[in-house]
Amino acid sequence: MAQSFAALIDQLLADPPAIHAMDGSQDPELGVWSTDRDCYMFVAEQVTTGSATLETGSGLSTVLLAAAGARHTCVTPAQEEADRILAYCARRGIDTASLTFELGCSDEVLPRLSSVTAFDLVLIDGNHGFPTPMLDWYYAGSLLRRGGVLVIDDIPLPAVAHLVAFIDGDPRWEKCQRTPKWAAFRRLDEGTLRQDWFEQGFYTAPPPRDLASLLARSIGKIRRTLRSAH
Ligand SMILES: C[S@@+](CC[C@H](N)C(=O)[O-])C[C@H]1O[C@@H](n2cnc3c(N)ncnc32)[C@H](O)[C@@H]1O
Repeated sequence: MAQSFAALIDQLLADPPAIHAMDGSQDPELGVWSTDRDCYMFVAEQVTTGSATLETGSGLSTVLLAAAGARHTCVTPAQEEADRILAYCARRGIDTASLTFELGCSDEVLPRLSSVTAFDLVLIDGNHGFPTPMLDWYYAGSLLRRGGVLVIDDIPLPAVAHLVAFIDGDPRWEKCQRTPKWAAFRRLDEGTLRQDWFEQGFYTAPPPRDLASLLARSIGKIRRTLRSAH
């Protein structure tokens, strides 16, 4: 299967779908903001026919998951992206019967997605500005089954880097694979990712910026220590 996925991914990369506007002009050139081949390989290897998958953002990954036979849900705000993907797949005989587009921004769409589906794989690669990757992680990650895989692209970007640093310390996740561009984690529990701060002892505040903040933080810490000692 790895052999055929490799061939499929090479085909898609050699003849990529033209989906995204590549510049901000009135008449932009179309292309695809794709990720690395090894990320696509990793994603494809997690999927068997009928796997339930979810991604934020659309692109080559959407075509790949449809071609791999996943029951795939793609969240994108752009109807034209969905139309271009469907047309690309139709031209190449890729079955899209199990591909569903949920149109809208992920922060609005994901909270409405039914928790009846426990996803096997979630790919986060939509809006990369703070706090959207965190919202995508929270809502889409909450729908991952125990043992399901989370893939996050563009990890050097600021908000994504903060998210990955958090997950790295979070015992609910196991590190799977990582390159400088993307990271993958396996979920070790299930259900909502909601927690209160006292359940996140692994998570530390950024260093204080001035003496007053340092003092306030130190006093808060002493108070909490004293309170827990009683
Ligand atoms: C980097 S591209 C995704 C590339 C794709 N994963 C691939 O492998 O080709 C980013 C995508 O995020 C979508 N996007 C932008 N803002 C979004 C939002 N708020 N919610 C969901 N998707 C969004 C864009 O329309 C675009 O399809």
